[in-house]
Amino acid sequence: MRIDHIGYAVQDLAAAAEKFEALGYRSCGEETEDLGRKVKIRFFSDTSGVMIELVAPLQDDSPIMGWIRKNGNSPYHICYESADLEHEIAELRQKGFILVHPIAPAPAMGGRRVAFLYGTGTGLLELAESPSPSR
Ligand code: NI
Repeated sequence: MRIDHIGYAVQDLAAAAEKFEALGYRSCGEETEDLGRKVKIRFFSDTSGVMIELVAPLQDDSPIMGWIRKNGNSPYHICYESADLEHEIAELRQKGFILVHPIAPAPAMGGRRVAFLYGTGTGLLELAESPSPSR
């Protein structure tokens, strides 16, 4: 599976953005609020095309706060591209992965559908449908 992006949980999006810009990442989209997940999100890329996603809590009861309290700013999911989300999810569940967030459109990704799964040994992963049918 091709990696789409690496998701980082961060306490303060603007402060973290500065640090990633110091590493050579450049913003590649507007900050977007995802009210369903109570987070705000901004995407960055480097010159080789690696994408990272900074995810920060919108409020204290944001589900991501538990992770940040425990781990601080840190990577928390790898997102893989999938041409067939439903099929991929069914296959991964058969292999023991747990669906922790069912398929839903991601506002920060232009409405692309995503789902989150958890596997012991792999941690949290995200599946995102391919940007266009041709890919
Ligand atoms: Ni993500």
